[in-house]
Amino acid sequence: MSRLAEVNPYQAYLRDLFHSDDADLSRLQAEAEAEGLPKISIGPEQGKFLQLLVQLTGTRKALEIGVLGGYSGAWIARALPEGGKLIGLELEQKHSDFACMQWKRMGLADRIEVRVGPALDSLPGLAGEAPFDLIFIDADKGNYPAYLDYAVRYSRPGTVILGDNVHMGGSVVDPERQDSEWVQGMRSFARMLSKDERLMSTVVPYSDGLAMAVVK
Ligand SMILES: C[S@@+](CC[C@H](N)C(=O)[O-])C[C@H]1O[C@@H](n2cnc3c(N)ncnc32)[C@H](O)[C@@H]1O
Repeated sequence: MSRLAEVNPYQAYLRDLFHSDDADLSRLQAEAEAEGLPKISIGPEQGKFLQLLVQLTGTRKALEIGVLGGYSGAWIARALPEGGKLIGLELEQKHSDFACMQWKRMGLADRIEVRVGPALDSLPGLAGEAPFDLIFIDADKGNYPAYLDYAVRYSRPGTVILGDNVHMGGSVVDPERQDSEWVQGMRSFARMLSKDERLMSTVVPYSDGLAMAVVK
């Protein structure tokens, strides 16, 4: 949930050089807005970063929890090698339908599949697909700890696990917001990442805070 409402001059400069959306990604975002999908996708900086990670790790099989309109999925899928696969988990049929339509138009449909429904209902059925090489968590924050449990279970040494929105627009460190289920979920997720000895983790300060771990 990190698309920057306002882009400062330095970010604009970097976007121009390194991260700008191409025509397909721009159209996806414009049509998502016109369809009334929430404007909560990652930004192009994170998309490019995910793409680099897919390439650096030689990812062939990726999992994304929280697909929305398919923007981050497109960045990931474009970096997959021939025969690579992205499985997306998405609660809303409308979001999944929109994403699949966009991916088809981009020529990515053969490498992505979406399972629609609450991710916690879909995750037990993915055991046969594991291990994944890269797992991106970007859905309801209250369930991040449970998603992390599955991510570790469905990993191998070298798997990269990412989770967006650690900062939560400042809520995560706002004394007035500590009762929120989402803040509690995010704080538990961050604590688990930092303490779990099976992981080496940090938070990349992209936009709203992108947690990143590698499985040892
Ligand atoms: C922040 S958006 C994902 C953005 C997407 N990763 C991107 O950057 O293009 C979060 C998505 O998670 C979905 N979601 C929320 N709760 C969910 C749940 N329990 N299971 C699966 N998906 C869920 C929402 O419907 C929404 O589409």
